[in-house]
Amino acid sequence: MSTPMIEMRDVQKYFKVSKGLFKTSNEQVKAVDHITLSVEEGEIVGLVGESGSGKTTLARVLLSLTKMTGGEAVIDGVNLGKATHRDMDKLHREIAVVFQDPASNLNPRETMESSIMRPMVIHGVPRSKAKEKAREVLQMVKMDLKYLDSFPHQLSGGQLQRIAIARALALSPKIMILDEPTSALDVSVQAQILNLLLDLQEEMHLTYIIITHDLNVIKYISDKIAVMYLGQLVEFGPAEVVGNRPSHPYTKGLMDAAPILDPRDRGKEKEIMKGDPGSLIDLKAGCRFYARCRYATDECKEKDPENVILAPGHQVACVHPLNIE
Ligand SMILES: Nc1ncnc2c1ncn2[C@@H]1O[C@H](COP(=O)(O)OP(=O)(O)O)[C@@H](O)[C@H]1O
Ligand SMILES: [Mg+2]
Repeated sequence: MSTPMIEMRDVQKYFKVSKGLFKTSNEQVKAVDHITLSVEEGEIVGLVGESGSGKTTLARVLLSLTKMTGGEAVIDGVNLGKATHRDMDKLHREIAVVFQDPASNLNPRETMESSIMRPMVIHGVPRSKAKEKAREVLQMVKMDLKYLDSFPHQLSGGQLQRIAIARALALSPKIMILDEPTSALDVSVQAQILNLLLDLQEEMHLTYIIITHDLNVIKYISDKIAVMYLGQLVEFGPAEVVGNRPSHPYTKGLMDAAPILDPRDRGKEKEIMKGDPGSLIDLKAGCRFYARCRYATDECKEKDPENVILAPGHQVACVHPLNIE
């Protein structure tokens, strides 16, 4: 097997809790807690989990927007913890990001052309070349060149997200991290943006990590699904399996919480999850999903569940996995 495009081993990001000015505390927010996960080249991995489960923090670690506090991540052969300036420069070109709210990422006083050109100029691409590339990427996101002179307030949410995608493509990345790329858009526009992202992925053989709340979408577009709960990876495997026959009770809870779109599935029994994940600070031993899990036993309360390999490429951190043959 080839080397993965992204390889995370025990990646950890703990935040110190501030107790106000000049007061220190030993408490930590375990936003990302020992995540081990690989993403192959050209693969679409959907990352799901309730709000606060650490998805954005994990994305920020991979983008080197924040330093991990433990573990190791190797991206296209570059080890984040040991990278030289040169390595990092290479990586910044290779890994791009699209966030949820395009408006907040674009300077209101900058034209679209200059916004798209900025990352290229920063990376030393000559202005004339950058101008040319700005036109090329705008066409790739199916937008008219007349928008190059527009300012953010003149465009709709969908158009702004296309600009954000164009800018992400400007340095010809290999990897794109998409953090809720359609959550802030109107429903009718969401599908257009998703289809655009899928077309680009296929055309350029990009590797995607896509974070979204929309479980119906994630099932449909991803090759694999990774499920996070309170900073940990609880299930990872082929989208078809994790999406339809999940093994972790939490994944099942998430999937059951998604609206049923297929009329044939109406009337199917659903288990609606109760409660919320609680705090990341005062974590006790044992499975973090214990209090909300209808399958939990005493064993789950006492010890941390280990990762079980259910099938090649399908792992679950649960003592009582579901749907196993
Ligand atoms: N800079 C920070 N300082 C302290 N805590 C943070 C910081 N960033 C995120 N967190 C905490 O980390 C946890 C995970 O957040 P986040 O990664 O944004 O989750 P998600 O994207 O899954 O909603 C949350 O409890 C959040 O409050
Ligand atoms: Mg987030």
